[in-house]
Amino acid sequence: MQVPFLDLKAQYRSIKEEIDAAMQAVVDQTAFAGGPFVARFEEAFAKFCGCKYAVGAGSGTDALWMALIASGVGPGDEVITVPDTFIATAEAISFCGAKPVFVDVVESTCNMDPEKLESAITERTKAVIPVHLFGQPADMDPILEIARKHGLLVIEDACQAHGSQYKGRMAGSLGDAGCFSFYPGKNLGAYGEAGAVVTNSEALAEKMRMFRDHGQARKYEHEMIGWNARMDGLQGAVLSVKLNHLEDWNNARRQNAHLYNELLRGVPGIIVPTEADYARHIYHIYAIRTSKRDSLMAHLAEKGISCGIHYPVPVHLQKAYQDLGHAEGSFPVAERCAAEFVSLPMFPELTAEQISFVADGIKGFCG
Ligand SMILES: Cc1ncc(COP(=O)(O)O)c(C=O)c1O
Repeated sequence: MQVPFLDLKAQYRSIKEEIDAAMQAVVDQTAFAGGPFVARFEEAFAKFCGCKYAVGAGSGTDALWMALIASGVGPGDEVITVPDTFIATAEAISFCGAKPVFVDVVESTCNMDPEKLESAITERTKAVIPVHLFGQPADMDPILEIARKHGLLVIEDACQAHGSQYKGRMAGSLGDAGCFSFYPGKNLGAYGEAGAVVTNSEALAEKMRMFRDHGQARKYEHEMIGWNARMDGLQGAVLSVKLNHLEDWNNARRQNAHLYNELLRGVPGIIVPTEADYARHIYHIYAIRTSKRDSLMAHLAEKGISCGIHYPVPVHLQKAYQDLGHAEGSFPVAERCAAEFVSLPMFPELTAEQISFVADGIKGFCG
C-alpha cells in the first residue's frame, strides 16, 4: 500500500464540478487580478473567522509583511516570535526593517511559552507574533495580557490554523490581526499562491488594502509606498468554493488524528501530539516525536509511507539568521522539538485502512 503525505488530487476529484465552474466563471469575466471573486471570498472568510474585515494577499508571507507594515512596524523595532516556525514569520519581520526576537516554546504544544515572553520585551519591542503551529493555537490569553500591559501589538501567524479555535474563538480573530496562508497544501489551500489578513480594525484593513495595491487610494493616486501583494481572481474563486467544505475537512482531519492517537498511544519511544485544554486543533500537521527519526522515516519509506519534517532546523539556527548570534542551546525546547518531530500522512481523505497501515509500520519499527 502507498500512503502519500498529502493527496491534493483526491480532494480535487471530490469537488471537481464546483471548482471547474468557479474557475470558468473567472475566465469568462476575465477578473484575474483582485476583483469581485476576491471581494466575495474576503467577505466570506471574514465572517468565517468572526472578524469584520479580511484583506486578500498574494501569499501568507505577504499577509504577515503587510500586517506588520500597516501596523507601523519599521526599522529599529523588535518583534517577538518563536523559532519553531516556517521562516516566513521571521522574514516578514526582517522585511519591515525590524529585528526578530525569539522566545522558546512550550514542550507539549511547541507554541510560544507565555512565561518566557515578558523577559524578551525591551523598549524597542513593537509587536508579538504567536504562531499557531500545526493548527493548534498558542495559549493566547496570557500572551494578550502581557502584550496589552506593555502596549504591544499582537499579530497572529494563523497560516496553519484555518478554523482552529482558542476557548471557542477562531484563531486569527484573537489579536490585532490574524495572518493566513492559502498555500495549496494548507487546510484551506488555493490552486496557486494566496494569503489574507483578518482584523476588526477598519483603519488597519484600509491601510493594508492600499499597501497591497501600490499604496493606491484611487487609481494612480499613491498615498503611500506600497507593493503588489494582491490575491488573484482564480484563487478567490477557488477559495470561496473550498471554504464551504473546510469544516467537514477539518473534522475529518480531527477524526484521523484521533485514530492515530488511539493506535499509537503507548507505543514505546513514540510521543503522540496533545490537544491543549483550550484548543480545537485542526491538524494541518500531525507530528509525532521520536528520538529515532531518521531510521523510523527510512523504515516507513520502505513500506511506501511518505512522511515530512516540520521543521528540521529552527529559525534561530538557520544560516540566514546567523547575524542574530544564536547558537545551539539558545532555545532548547524548540531545538528538541525540531530534532524529534516526524509529520505523518495527514489529509481529510486519508482512510482508516491507510492510518492503520502507518500505525502498524511504526509499531513494527518500535517493536
Ligand atoms: C507558520 C507559517 N507562516 C507563514 C507561512 C508563509 O505562507 P506562504 O507560503 O503562503 O507565503 C507559512 C506557510 O507555509 C507557515 O506555515
